[in-house]
Amino acid sequence: MSTHSESRKRLMAPNITALKGDRPIVSLTSYHAHTAAIADKHCDFLLVGDSLGMVMHGYETTVPVPLDLMIMHGKAVVRGSKRSLIVVDMPFGTYEESPSVAFRNAARVMKETDCGAVKLEGGRRMAETIRFLVDRGIPVMAHIGMTPQSVNVFGGFKTQGRTLDAWAAIEEDARLVTEAGAFAVVLEAMAAPLAERITQAISIPTIGIGASPGCDGQILVMEDMLGLSPRVPKFVKEFGAIGAAIDRAIGSYAGEVRARTFPDASHTYGLKDTVGEPSPPAAPARATKKPKNQ
Ligand code: KIV
Repeated sequence: MSTHSESRKRLMAPNITALKGDRPIVSLTSYHAHTAAIADKHCDFLLVGDSLGMVMHGYETTVPVPLDLMIMHGKAVVRGSKRSLIVVDMPFGTYEESPSVAFRNAARVMKETDCGAVKLEGGRRMAETIRFLVDRGIPVMAHIGMTPQSVNVFGGFKTQGRTLDAWAAIEEDARLVTEAGAFAVVLEAMAAPLAERITQAISIPTIGIGASPGCDGQILVMEDMLGLSPRVPKFVKEFGAIGAAIDRAIGSYAGEVRARTFPDASHTYGLKDTVGEPSPPAAPARATKKPKNQ
């Protein structure tokens, strides 16, 4: 078979699995091409998370996010990146019903975006589906602990595993997704000692978000760590102040437009060389606003 795989630079799911025990895995969410191009230089994988529904589209939870929206953003992130593995989230309602429904939708995501893997939420309850997808050529990242698509069952975005009696079920989730063939598992909003225990116990990498430095890798929502989100959870560190920088830049632009200092001659086109041609007509005088009572 003719192949260009030797020259292929993009990481694939097994490359991420192989990083366990070697070095920390770095990842961020990404929803559009230009931020993907920047993050691609620093990350091992980029997640087109269904958090885009809340961050980009103003939904209160991830539950309403449609599959077509994930595919549209997935395509943009694949086009913007070269090296990172791109993982696209399966949104609520597109995979829970049965392994074959999950396969149909996940195959659509893989074919239409050209991403390298999908992510879905759930431990024990999704193990059979994970096995079904992996056996049919779709790498799956699992997601356990606080699973945002179940917010209506949890009664809020609640940290998991804060009492010892909750640990066994979550450890079982981690074990079952590993046995089902997931190549990595996100641990979200989970008590640190439990996340550390799971990381020691399973053979695939744990990717923490609010789950301690003991995980094999970390992920954050890019807009949260850039300082662009109005509110962030306790586990987010703001590494930038992009929201404030955007506010300042737009304020300056608005001020200069109102003061007519932007655009100036350096942002304006003149005529091409017009030697021998008649001069253009003079610009008409600027219209003044009619007084209200006329
Ligand atoms: O949708 C998302 O951004 C996620 C991350 C929080 C892991 O699932």
